[in-house]
Formats: sequence, structure tokens, C-alpha cells
Amino acid sequence: MPVITETAPGKIILLGEHSVVYGRPAIAVPVEQVKARSSVIPNPRAEPGSIRIYAPDINLDCDLKELPDEHPLRFIVSLVLKTAGVSRIPACTIRVSSDIPLASGMGSGAAVTVSLIRAISGFIGHLFTDDTVNQLTFEVEKLFHGTPSGIDNTVITYSMPIYFQVGQPIELLEIQERVPILIGDTGVHSPTSIAVGDLRRAWQTDSLTYERIFDEVGNLVKLAKSHLESGDLHQLGHLMSENHAFLQHMGVSSKELDQLVRCALEAGALGAKLSGGGRGGNMIALVEEGTINTVADKLRSGGASNVIITWLFGKKQPGTS
Ligand code: PMV
Repeated sequence: MPVITETAPGKIILLGEHSVVYGRPAIAVPVEQVKARSSVIPNPRAEPGSIRIYAPDINLDCDLKELPDEHPLRFIVSLVLKTAGVSRIPACTIRVSSDIPLASGMGSGAAVTVSLIRAISGFIGHLFTDDTVNQLTFEVEKLFHGTPSGIDNTVITYSMPIYFQVGQPIELLEIQERVPILIGDTGVHSPTSIAVGDLRRAWQTDSLTYERIFDEVGNLVKLAKSHLESGDLHQLGHLMSENHAFLQHMGVSSKELDQLVRCALEAGALGAKLSGGGRGGNMIALVEEGTINTVADKLRSGGASNVIITWLFGKKQPGTS
């Protein structure tokens, strides 16, 4: 029996985080420079059915049975076996690792889940469709992250730039040119569920104000989609910065995020904003190729603990011309 290894990328949200939870559209793109990786390694000498879990990033090395039922890794393994209708699998070790920063708005949890679901389903010879992987990952997200919109699991499962709106068919975006984006990490960990929960409480006390903000962001996202597809990066950058101002109004930015956004713009970025849950984690800056290094240096000197350079590009959907 071969070793099965699956990877899944990180992600950023180009525009529309938070308002996407309230039914407005958002645009997300995968970040292939960082990955979660899951391997299932057969262990023929071990007792039949035994599953060892090895996740060095979180100092975990134990038998799966030793973990509580509600531990995310145990939950994911059980969910896959239940969905495949399998009660027992050949003895194995499951190794999980990730270089996607944790609690930083880059989808680390969803990426681990997608890679693990695919690795186990491959190991038991019961391959799931992308739609099933997406659905199962959403189940896991709901259990561990409060009230997710579903954007993280979707962009990571399909590994394509997406225009996403709850309840609507997923639109895969075609981006004609390669577009450089810098991702600056504030180094501040911030669980998404806290920012999402705080915003929900604020919305409950003053839904009119927040609904108006969400509508404004929804309009920016629709415009951004057409600028992204036509390659008008100056307009796109402008909309990203406007989106950041609305995110500040929502109360999900932070002084570290605002500082990095300011640095990026001062250094010539076309637009900049926080990305993901906010309050910490990562910001993104849209840049022209010629200013990549200047903006990256400015982000580092402005306090970024790490800067990733990624490129937006869209592949065509299989089967379309
Ligand atoms: O999990 P994060 O921090 O990458 O953010 C996800 C985006 C939110 O809109 C804040 C939440 C959601 O479920 O859409």
C-alpha cells in the first residue's frame, strides 16, 4: 500500500471578508506559497485498525483513540470514514503539518482539513469529488469556527480565484494577467471567531448601520470583479483601500494592520487592506511589478514579521474554451 500525500494552499481574501458572512459577495484567491500537508503512511507491523497521529507543529504524537472525540483531527478522520461508509482502515500513521501561519487570516484550518480529507480518502481508495471535499470541510469549519460563510473551504478546495456569495453557484474567476500581491504578517495571532462574534453583536445592536456598510462593500466587490477580469489594477487597488476603510468601521482592523496598510501605500502600492478575520493576522497590498521590493522592504521596516510575494492568476475552468 503506497503512502498517500495531499497538500492544500493557504488563501487571502481580496475583498469582502466579514460582509460575506451577511450574504454579500467576496473575492478570494489561493496562496500556493504556503501549504498544509497530510500524509497517510501504512504501518503493516502495527495492530490492525490502529491509527497513529503525528502533528509536530502542535506537538502531537499519539494514538488517534487517545484524542477526545471532539478534537478536530479525530473528528475529521471519523467524518471521512463515515462518509465513505468504512468502519476500519489498515493500520497507519497520519502525519499533518502546515507552514500556513495559524490564526492569521490565511485559512490554515481549512487547508489542513482539505489535505487530510483527501489523503485519508485516497488511502482507503474512496476518492471524494471536490464538491464532497468542500462540503465536508464546511462541516468542520462550522463546528470549530462559529458561523463561517464557506469562503475559506471553497477557495482552498478548488484552489482557484473565486467570486463567492452564500447560496449562489461558485464563480471561478479568470484573471488575464499575473498580478503581484504582497502579504504582510502583523505577527499578531487573532482567531477569526472572535472578530466575527464581536461584529455580530455590533450588528445585532445597530443592524441598519452595519447593513449599509455591508451593502457598500458588496458594491465594491462587484466592481472589483470586473476590474480584476479586465486587468485594471489601479481601480482594483483603489477599491481594496476603500474596503479597508469599511473594515475599520466594522471594528475588525488593528493598529498593526493600519500601520502596515499605511506603509504599503506610502511605498507605492496600488491598494492595501487587511485580509481575513482581522484584528491581527495578515494584510495584503496590490503592487506593480516594479515596486515589489520597495513595498516589501517598507512592510518589513514597518513591523511585518513576514512578507510573502504571491501572484494572482486564473486558470480556465476544465472543459471551457
Ligand atoms: O478565517 P479567516 O480569518 O481567513 O477569515 C474568513 C473570512 C471571514 O469573512 C472573516 C469569515 C467567513 O467565514 O467568511
